[in-house]
This record gives sequence, C-alpha cells and structure tokens, in this order.
Amino acid sequence: MSKGDKALHKAKILKNDEFYTQITDIENELKHYRQHFKDAVVFCNCDDPDCSNFWKYFHLYFKFLGLKKLITTHYDANEPTYKMEYEGGNDSDTTVGVITPLKQNGDFRSPECIDLLKQSDIVVTNPPFSLFREYVAQLISNDKKFLIIGNMNCVTYKEIFPLIQNNMMWVGANEKRGTRKGNSLCFGVPEGFSGKTIDVNGVPMAQVSAWWFTNLDIVKRHETIDLSEKYIPEKFPKYDNYDAINVNKTSGIPYDYDGVMGVPISFMDKYCPEQFEIIGIAKRGAGDPALKSKVYTKEDYENYSDLNAGPVLIDENGKLYNTYPRILIKRKE
Ligand SMILES: C[S@@+](CC[C@H](N)C(=O)[O-])C[C@H]1O[C@@H](n2cnc3c(N)ncnc32)[C@H](O)[C@@H]1O
Repeated sequence: MSKGDKALHKAKILKNDEFYTQITDIENELKHYRQHFKDAVVFCNCDDPDCSNFWKYFHLYFKFLGLKKLITTHYDANEPTYKMEYEGGNDSDTTVGVITPLKQNGDFRSPECIDLLKQSDIVVTNPPFSLFREYVAQLISNDKKFLIIGNMNCVTYKEIFPLIQNNMMWVGANEKRGTRKGNSLCFGVPEGFSGKTIDVNGVPMAQVSAWWFTNLDIVKRHETIDLSEKYIPEKFPKYDNYDAINVNKTSGIPYDYDGVMGVPISFMDKYCPEQFEIIGIAKRGAGDPALKSKVYTKEDYENYSDLNAGPVLIDENGKLYNTYPRILIKRKE
C-alpha cells in the first residue's frame, strides 16, 4: 500500500469508527435489562458526553433505573480530555454533571480509563468497530458486565467466537423497532462522511449490520425457536467436508435431526443455550475473498487444509460448491 493509500485507509477506519447510536435504539434495547441496573455504576467509555446518546439515556433514566453513578470519558486522538460523572438530582437536564480533566486522552485502554472501568459495574456503549476485538478482550479480562454494539460478523472473529460458544457473551434483544431493519441498525454519521448513507426521516444515516452483544441475562435468551420442519435428507444435504447437514434458514431447522447442523450466522440472534449446543464454526464461506470463486474441484479442497474451510456441498452435476459461513450446532432436547 502506498503512503497516500495508507492515509486514506486510516481516514476510512477513523470515519467508520464515528457512528452515532440513536436514542430510540438505546431505549428499545435497554428496556430488556432494567433489573440489572439497580444500584449500578454505569461506564460509557467511548462517549463524548456532549453528544453521546448513551450519556443522555442514562442521565434521563437515572432515577427510573435506580442507578448509583454514571461515568463517561471523552476520547481525543491527540490531547488529554476529561471525564464527566453524574450521581442524580436533575435527570432531565443532561448538561448536569461533574467534569474532571484527565491526564490522558480518554482512550479506553489508558490506565486512567482502566481505573474507571474497575470502579464500574456495567459498561454500555457502541465502541469503535475497528477496535472491537481489543475492546471486548479488555472487558472480559476485567470480568465486567457489558452491553455493547458490534458488527454482526464479529461472531466469526477468532477472538469473539469462543466467547459466544462458551456462553460468555451473547446476542442481545435486537427488537425490530427504531432504526432496526432485519440485522441492520442506522447510525448518525459525522460531517463529511463519504460512505453510503440512507435517508432516515430526513437525516442521512449509515446502515450497518449490527447487533447488541451482552453478558447480561435477558428473557429472549431463554426463548426456544419454534421448529416445525421435518428432516428430509434431500432437503438438507450433507457437507462433503463436515459431518453435518446444511440448513439455509434458521426458521427451517428440522426438529428431528439429532446430528450436527450448519446454520447461517443470523441464527445467533435466536440462539437459546437450553435448546442448542454450539459445536463450532465453519467460517470461510463463499463471501471470503481468499476463496476466489464459488465452484471448486475436489482437488482444490484436498489441497486446502484450513480447518476453518467453509462447508462444501456437491450439486446435482457433481460439482463442489461452497456455502456462506456456518455455525455448527446440535439440538439439546
Ligand atoms: C462507533 S462511535 C460511537 C460513539 C458513541 N458511543 C455512540 O454510540 O454514539 C465510537 C466512538 O469511540 C471513540 N473512540 C475511538 N477510539 C477510541 C479509543 N481508543 N478509546 C475510546 N474511544 C475511542 C470515537 O471517537 C467514536 O466517537
């Protein structure tokens, strides 16, 4: 990459980190967690209190949720910043709070912010997508409760998938309300944003495949999927490279197949740990640019030794083809 390309790439990453969560989307998610917030210290560590709707939400709902304290830290790439704290008293005026300068720049990884993290009970924010892996690792190593927004594809990251598989993190409520359409949410964008936007009530917004992720228990997590499809071998072909059947839609999971099934990533939004066990992930699907085309020869796969290889199906002409990434699951009941 040339110097100019590198600068552009960096600018693009920075821009993609500036997505602003809408307060209706925060309200729609947070209503599923009310019991967890009683007497809690909430830390929003990627949130400028001047403009963050997370700060606004917790300020406005401070008494309603029974919070003990709200802390936010403002981040600046180059300069020392400040924290803002609120302990109740005037919930409706979101400018009320105590501002204290920080010696560092509000980076969530800075020692000052880690100190604040240790003092807090629950972290709630939409962290920069480009630092998501590091961000989650820090929450886990500090044994924190959290409710955060991430790209839905982060489920496939090698650092994130084991947390999901081991029930240390799961997909939140993600009600289809507010700006949510299917698996995507709309976010406010900074001035000069050059990416694609859509019009949401007259405001240009970026539409991103994003889910809430959490380790706080919610009712939805224990709701089983209603399975009505019967297993018919012709309808659910077996992979050539995994001892599992292919299921194209979460709603089409058969109720009577006892072996391993490969389901789309969107399954994670419906996953109930009492109903299914997550066996693994077959990650490198047709969407992976490393696997340049969709049709392969058997030799291609024999020479391709990556254990993460995408599940392969054989079509009616005997040609091998590769599906999208699949979560491998097994029924528990
Ligand atoms: C996706 S935006 C979300 C902003 C806000 N949380 C919201 O949801 O509206 C991520 C924010 O994290 C900030 N940020 C970027 N790098 C950071 C870092 N290392 N530490 C803390 N915050 C950071 C960015 O300035 C950006 O405003």
